[in-house]
Amino acid sequence: MRTSGDVAAPVLAIDGPSGTGKGTIAARVAEYLGWHTLDSGALYRAIAFLAVENRIDPGDTDGLEELAKSSVVEFVVRSDGVNILLDDRDITDEVRSESGGKNASIYAKIPAVRKALLHRQQAMRTAPGLVADGRDMGTVVFPDAFLKVFLDASAAVRAQRRHKQLSGKGFDVKLRALEREIAERDEQDRNRAASPLVPAADAIVLDTSEKDIGQVFADVMQLVDKRLASRQISRT
Ligand code: DC
Repeated sequence: MRTSGDVAAPVLAIDGPSGTGKGTIAARVAEYLGWHTLDSGALYRAIAFLAVENRIDPGDTDGLEELAKSSVVEFVVRSDGVNILLDDRDITDEVRSESGGKNASIYAKIPAVRKALLHRQQAMRTAPGLVADGRDMGTVVFPDAFLKVFLDASAAVRAQRRHKQLSGKGFDVKLRALEREIAERDEQDRNRAASPLVPAADAIVLDTSEKDIGQVFADVMQLVDKRLASRQISRT
């Protein structure tokens, strides 16, 4: 069943390139507020994973649209974090890998894929509120978000963070290769015709290069509290 979500539920949109800490910040803010989360990158990663597995070429728009509409992606919170289930199969490791991100960026360029995932993302807007992170949360998916934050950081810092994160999870990755991949993915995400990675005109841009995650969380929460109070939106 397709629903359009609860348009009255407030949305906090957190966009930006990879390695800016948006996923971690989104999860922390959502936990603090008791709101739902939407990790839109994981949706694109899961669809790309399925497309590659089923050998559906990026040029096969009908096949991709059908795949994006019919596959059931679920996010399950476990003690080791959020696990991604695709039609009941745990694909967390494959999806979170660097190649998973690279493939996601390739398939995310295709308008038919973005269109098929649009309603699915909007349907996740439910009370008491939603914290959504990605590339086009503030520009396309939730243009009426009560607050749009765009997290940025230098490419070098982002590669170092990603390296630390992936090494910590046991992935064998080289910093140089990561720097190259991040630059390629940025280029692809920023320059595509459909929903490119750009801050919304009314987004607040925060550079996180010199900040740790605690500082970014504090900055975002300050913005959230101020904006909720000025719009007289209650947190629950
Ligand atoms: O946030 P992430 O690294 O998990 O995203 C993986 C890729 O998915 C990213 O390089 C581009 C694409 N993506 C997108 O196009 N739109 C989104 N809202 C989220 C991700």
